[in-house]
Amino acid sequence: MVHICLLFQALHFHFRIFYFPLFISYSYTEDHLTLPSAAYLTGWSHGKEALKTGSYDTLKGSYYVNCAFYQDPSLQNASDDTYKDFPEYTAPNVWPPERLLPGFRTTFEELCILVIDTGVLVAKACDKYALANIEGYERDYLERVVRTSTTTKARLLHYFPPKLPNGTENETSEEDVNDDSWCATHIDHGCLTGLTSALYIDEAAHPPVFPKLDHGASALAPLPALSSALSHDAGLYIESRTSAVTKVNIPSSCLGFQTGEALQLITGGKFRAVPHSVRAGSGNMMANVARNNLAVFMQPNLGEVVHRERELTFAGFAKEVSGRFG
Ligand SMILES: [Fe+2]
Repeated sequence: MVHICLLFQALHFHFRIFYFPLFISYSYTEDHLTLPSAAYLTGWSHGKEALKTGSYDTLKGSYYVNCAFYQDPSLQNASDDTYKDFPEYTAPNVWPPERLLPGFRTTFEELCILVIDTGVLVAKACDKYALANIEGYERDYLERVVRTSTTTKARLLHYFPPKLPNGTENETSEEDVNDDSWCATHIDHGCLTGLTSALYIDEAAHPPVFPKLDHGASALAPLPALSSALSHDAGLYIESRTSAVTKVNIPSSCLGFQTGEALQLITGGKFRAVPHSVRAGSGNMMANVARNNLAVFMQPNLGEVVHRERELTFAGFAKEVSGRFG
């Protein structure tokens, strides 16, 4: 637990990656971290994700990393040569230069490995239940998926402050609060998602800056994080099978895990994907507050069959999912 906390604290230094776009005159810009050829699912992504409404999501910025390094430190992408036409997973990672964010890659990889190691333990518990309760369930299936996948993907998330573009305060109505203002209700399409706690930063009190790091790591100071969101109703919400909605608070020394759609398919609906959303909260207290966290999507290898009757592989399923809104 303490290790998670320390690693997440270490990553606090590095949420500056989201401030790259502010420094277009700097020698390294967001373009260097953006991979249109990978459908923006590796590297930096902002305003590229299609929403149900038909618009594009500009409220979140993401930095995606393939976690194939969990299998082999030299691997930077899904290793299955059969799926070279699936650059969303097979394009190698793009990392910021070490001189700009010293220690970022090391810390990021170490935290992802810790999340996946913990995911293996969660998977074992799921397998124990599934073997006893689901007819035909493959022994140790989920543990095998989490332990051996080269398709696991990490997403470092930045939710931009919900202030209005003209800088005026955006007093959120009660109606908005009940809405999923930072991230619409959805389900993840992997098997298990591991989540860190959220880190909130008041960008009015501490305007985002990207320090010149000519002097190395000593120039980096921790970002001044709030101890919690300034609005009691800001944060992550999950929905039960009976549509009961519950706010979830993950302590900084802990990880949260939720089940996704691939596991729902594999288990014939015995495990259900958890609908979830992120709310920016009520009132104007959150107008200038940004939210950061890390999600690690543990998903089957591209050739793994996730629906036997349809002979549907995870690659095929992921294509279906990406075609839903885009
Ligand atoms: Fe999600």
